[in-house]
Amino acid sequence: MKNTEAICKNFPHFLHGGDYNPEQWLESPEILEQDMELMKASGCNTMTLNMFAWATIEPEEGKYDFSYLDMMMDKIYQNGGRVILGTPSGARPAWLAEKYPEVLRVTENGLKNLFGSRHNHCYTSKLYREKTAQINRALAERYKNHPALIMWHLSNEYGGECHCEKCQEAFREWLKQKYDNDLDKLNFQYWNRFWSHTFTSWEQIHSPSSLGELRCHALTLDWKRFVTYQTTEFMKNEIIPLKEITPDIPVTTNFMGAYPGLDYSYMKDYIDVVSNDNYPVWHHYFGDDIIALKTAWIHDLDRCLMDKAFIMMESAPSNTNWTQVNKLKRPNMHKLSSMQAVAHGADSVLYFQWRMSRGGSEKFHGAVVDHSGSADTRVFRDVTSVGETLKKLDEIVGARTKSEVGIIFSWANMWTLDDFKGFNNNDRKYYDNIIANYRPFWDRGINVDVVTEGADFSKYKILIAPMLHLMTGETVQKLEEYVANGGRLIMTYLSGMVNENALCYLGGFPANNLKKVFGIWAEEVDAIYDTDEVYVKTVDGKKVRAYDFCEVIRPQGATTLATYCDEYYKGTPAVTENSFGKGKAYYIAFRDKGVYADMLYGRLIDELKIEKNLDADLPNGVTAHSRESESAKYIFVENYNADKKEVCLDREYIDVETGEKVSGKLLLDGYGVRILKADKE
Ligand code: GLA
Ligand code: ZN
Repeated sequence: MKNTEAICKNFPHFLHGGDYNPEQWLESPEILEQDMELMKASGCNTMTLNMFAWATIEPEEGKYDFSYLDMMMDKIYQNGGRVILGTPSGARPAWLAEKYPEVLRVTENGLKNLFGSRHNHCYTSKLYREKTAQINRALAERYKNHPALIMWHLSNEYGGECHCEKCQEAFREWLKQKYDNDLDKLNFQYWNRFWSHTFTSWEQIHSPSSLGELRCHALTLDWKRFVTYQTTEFMKNEIIPLKEITPDIPVTTNFMGAYPGLDYSYMKDYIDVVSNDNYPVWHHYFGDDIIALKTAWIHDLDRCLMDKAFIMMESAPSNTNWTQVNKLKRPNMHKLSSMQAVAHGADSVLYFQWRMSRGGSEKFHGAVVDHSGSADTRVFRDVTSVGETLKKLDEIVGARTKSEVGIIFSWANMWTLDDFKGFNNNDRKYYDNIIANYRPFWDRGINVDVVTEGADFSKYKILIAPMLHLMTGETVQKLEEYVANGGRLIMTYLSGMVNENALCYLGGFPANNLKKVFGIWAEEVDAIYDTDEVYVKTVDGKKVRAYDFCEVIRPQGATTLATYCDEYYKGTPAVTENSFGKGKAYYIAFRDKGVYADMLYGRLIDELKIEKNLDADLPNGVTAHSRESESAKYIFVENYNADKKEVCLDREYIDVETGEKVSGKLLLDGYGVRILKADKE
């Protein structure tokens, strides 16, 4: 595969712009004219149209009126812009809901929604599928040769569940397929003799509901898998006419990070490129470094889903309107957060929204153009500055990211961690644990891949599987092979306990051969309160505090790297290392907030000579990420502190924005970012 490959073959540039709703301004043509001037002035080149315009383009059933869209496609193109065209299924017209109530979603308690809001259709309804395919076909036919069209944007933020009768039937069909039409098989996997829950007919099965079943882990897992499957089927149905009529135009849909409602590692197989909506809550009291970390690993996940550049489809030019406290981005933060996405693999900086609506629920959501309509605003200037920078990065459009470290994230695992009862039932902090294991690399400016279980692990020198509680037999085997072939694998407490249907592995944890790989048996899981002080001591005498979980493990060949200092398990191993085949496996038995991880990974990074993007000690809250073209490496040095920081450079670079040479001390403004280029030898 080529190192750089632009997503839009007919527009191989960074996309800058965003969601634009001209249908809201048809009474004010002067505003639409002004938008075109402002688009050019801001260095924006891409507008996403039509996402919520179904009622405008099909005001009555079967009666299309594309006049506004014709006008805007032309206007945008004439002004040098391009269009990402939305399919409108995310919000249906009132006439459609009135005439065909089957399109309305039903809640888990069996209540049918009224018309209103958005993102609330039944994804099984044949009728809604027909209607969306019809409108998509009409759009594709109309704009197939329009030079502005560069990408299709399916619907908007697919999500949520429908529990209507049609969905129940489809769920049962899906289960029949999965369990070979054999109810006994299902009953066994669901462990249904428990509480006398044995099903004697398929019709007895109902989606999880607080009025019925919420305690069968396998049912919950299957339902979530089905929701992903059925949403994907709905999406595939939307894609058919688009691919038939415009086979060369890439198709995407906007994902929402690690949104728990849908397994994106399944959905991505049916689109051409992953897109994400990125709304970090900057300047939160958690600290901007924490927010930056949370954002960084999500970007890495989005890049790794398809192992190529992704599209940042939405981000806020300044504030949002939906958090409790919607802070403005402080000076420099807009460029920093935009470049963060680019550094992690985004080929775009796209916003929600271009112009603030005058009414509706998002009228105070940040936008490139606010209600003043002026270009003389701080936000507009920030956006313009990002546009200038993006032009200088053209060479890395489509560039891949090289990484020697992989962290596993799994949707099914998240689902079951959120669901099962046992040990410590407080928030199990899966994300926090991922971040604790991710941070040591971020702090040192090392690229990380965030991968799902289907990925090829063999390219990583270090592979981390934080809290991988649910593992398929296949994953267990892949991990074993990874270590046997020379990899360094790190696992934590709660790992390898249940199979894909949440049935416990028998014979001791972690599952099957992993006990040999790690040279341990994880015999018991202790849960502790925040008021319990349990410490762990490393072999070289450093003390680290444990939180929430302390597994009691028995070494069966592994070497102890740290032991517990408290409780009845004082003196027993808290961290172990084991040689297996050509590799090594490390088990961290307690919840570490990152202090131990930093020590362990610091050591492994040195030992394995993991490449840092800058050969320098980075101040706290400063990191560096890179993308590479065929001929050069681009390093993004990011400062998430409000005050200035300095980094000592290891060699001479070109500052991409100024074109000047830089060496020695590199100064970073508060929330500053510097982009350095190094030609490859
Ligand atoms: C989501 C939606 C957008 C808009 C933004 C606001 O990401 O896709 O339509 O509502 O949120 O932040
Ligand atoms: Zn339904």
